[in-house]
Amino acid sequence: MTWPSAEPLTTGDLRLEPLRVADAEEMAGVLADESLYRFTGGSAPSLSRLRARYRSQVRGASSDGTQGWLNWVVRVAPDRAAGFVQATLEDHGPVRVASLGWVVGPAWQGRGIATRAAGAVLGWLASRGVAEFRAYIHPDNAASQRVAAKLGLRPTALVLDGEVRWVSGPHTPG
Ligand SMILES: CC(C)(COP(=O)(O)OP(=O)(O)OC[C@H]1O[C@@H](n2cnc3c(N)ncnc32)[C@H](O)[C@@H]1OP(=O)(O)O)[C@@H](O)C(=O)NCCC(=O)NCCS
Repeated sequence: MTWPSAEPLTTGDLRLEPLRVADAEEMAGVLADESLYRFTGGSAPSLSRLRARYRSQVRGASSDGTQGWLNWVVRVAPDRAAGFVQATLEDHGPVRVASLGWVVGPAWQGRGIATRAAGAVLGWLASRGVAEFRAYIHPDNAASQRVAAKLGLRPTALVLDGEVRWVSGPHTPG
């Protein structure tokens, strides 16, 4: 399987830069607030944990090659990290599916950043052959549901680990 590599994207005053391990230091600050984990579980990562996570993520694919991993740091002018968008790609038969995730630091929330950043990723992936987009969202995570709805995703009846699968594009089983 060959997966696309994340490329720099721009939308308005937001820049999305492909993740680098060197981003861990700045991102540890963005991801430090425990409120970010209210609906997703987990907790604020230490710098060493984040570096290890980023070292793995920048490989761009799972070790068995069945998933593509694309990650962007979202930057606001002049050059401050505000959050990230990630896409996990899988091929379901002929249909390339991307599961999207988005996180914006508390200082930057409520300005449309997640919607615009995830929208830029969605558009870029669609231009590279991704036919279906998914997101997994806790039923009480109203902000994330708004983001998904504004991206054109809709909730399904499928619940995995307490999160509802939202989808766009043609339905594929599984
Ligand atoms: C979800 C998240 C990324 C949204 O980031 P953001 O940049 O603030 O998102 P946007 O500004 O693009 O859009 C947020 C929308 O949710 C709405 N919203 C925000 N908080 C809300 C709340 N508590 N209840 C209802 N709606 C809420 C906003 O009004 C906005 O909708 P609108 O444009 O219709 O007014 C951010 O809250 C976050 O990082 N949360 C923690 C991590 C997380 O849960 N990630 C998603 C996992 S599925």
